[in-house]
Amino acid sequence: MTTSADIITRNAEVFTPALHIYHPIVIEHGNGSWITDQKGCRYLDFSSGLAVLNIGHNHPKVIEHMARQMKRFVHTGGIYYNETTLKAAELLTSVTPAGLDMLFFSNSGAEAVEGAIKLARYVTGRQGIVAFSGAFHGRTMGAVSLTASSARYRARYHPLLPSVYHAPYPHCYRCPFGSIGNSCTQACQNYLHEMLRSYITPAEIAAIIIEPVLGEGGYVPAPAEFLRQLRQLCDQHGILLLFDEVQSGMGRTGEWFAAQHYEVTPDILIVAKGIASGLPLSALVSRRELMEKWPEGAHGTTFGGNPLACAAAIATIEAIRDENLLQRCRNLGDYAMSRLRDLQKQNALIGDVRGIGLMIGVEMVLPGGAPATEACERLMGICRKHGLLIINCGPERNVLRLIPPLTISDNEMELALTIIESGLAEIG
Ligand SMILES: Cc1ncc(COP(=O)(O)O)c(C=O)c1O
Repeated sequence: MTTSADIITRNAEVFTPALHIYHPIVIEHGNGSWITDQKGCRYLDFSSGLAVLNIGHNHPKVIEHMARQMKRFVHTGGIYYNETTLKAAELLTSVTPAGLDMLFFSNSGAEAVEGAIKLARYVTGRQGIVAFSGAFHGRTMGAVSLTASSARYRARYHPLLPSVYHAPYPHCYRCPFGSIGNSCTQACQNYLHEMLRSYITPAEIAAIIIEPVLGEGGYVPAPAEFLRQLRQLCDQHGILLLFDEVQSGMGRTGEWFAAQHYEVTPDILIVAKGIASGLPLSALVSRRELMEKWPEGAHGTTFGGNPLACAAAIATIEAIRDENLLQRCRNLGDYAMSRLRDLQKQNALIGDVRGIGLMIGVEMVLPGGAPATEACERLMGICRKHGLLIINCGPERNVLRLIPPLTISDNEMELALTIIESGLAEIG
């Protein structure tokens, strides 16, 4: 029988080392919150396949919808209409913030970001784009030009997209201006206004793009006031506000989208990851009035809106709705945050616990506050040894990100927190 070690070795022979795999495990089965590896070991999956499996592995409803679709047809390629893709679009626009009622389906987060850049430039006739430090918007040339969570992702790809400007993200725990509390919001807004005075006029900016909850950059929810002020700034100057909710969307924060927590509606919402429980699907959703300015042929796709992925999306949205998972996410998230904050009081390695719903970041620090990258990696390894899979994020990879499926049971949450607690004790 092929061993896991053999598969991992063969992987290294055929796949470019550019591709990062977080854990040296070969999956054999996935079911709910659990995966089983080749040796029969079970792991509680607190990565949700990188924030994708919001209703767990192999949700029966997803399997059933896909099986039904698979027997009928699996591809249309934009040659003919089909009702499955239509239904997925209707369902998705029924849960996006009010007014965002037209969409374009594509296959990945980065692809939807590219589409959003094109839409914004097309309808405004402007070129400039403002993004934020710490942002992760994807790996394609346009998306990576907006990405600023690590210079490593951009290295050797210059020149990138021109007329892209980055402003500091209001990351209060590590305020770029050394401010405390709300003054961080103000300092970041001031910087942005200075940028519009010194580098690019507002009349040349097509879009401001932001993750309302910073993902890859360290799981940082933006202060509500910052997003409200961004909305005002955009309204004042005819700039489009883009929310990249690839990671924070589809129920992850306890609302369908983080925008709904903040009560700030973007002009374009970017959705991917959790939308189809592991099938490749993404969407950019906008107002009819903007979408109608994008004429036929201005954008397109072969695979976007694939009926199989859309069948999975229908099942996913219905499961989140029918199983009352938004409420469950809020309750479990509150519980986990309070347990983690208690742990923080006893453990100096935990510098900050933050997040919304089940998008929780635990920042690990050394005495004095420097990032504890090595301790974070060690903790991930110890957790794995005890059957819990967690991944990290942040520019220094010292933030543990807890993103379990929204379907996890109370007992599973308890088990994970206990493993983390004993892992921290083991590190000392
Ligand atoms: C906020 C955000 N935007 C965009 C992307 C890119 O998505 P994809 O990897 O599907 O291209 C990611 C991926 O992690 C993300 O977290």
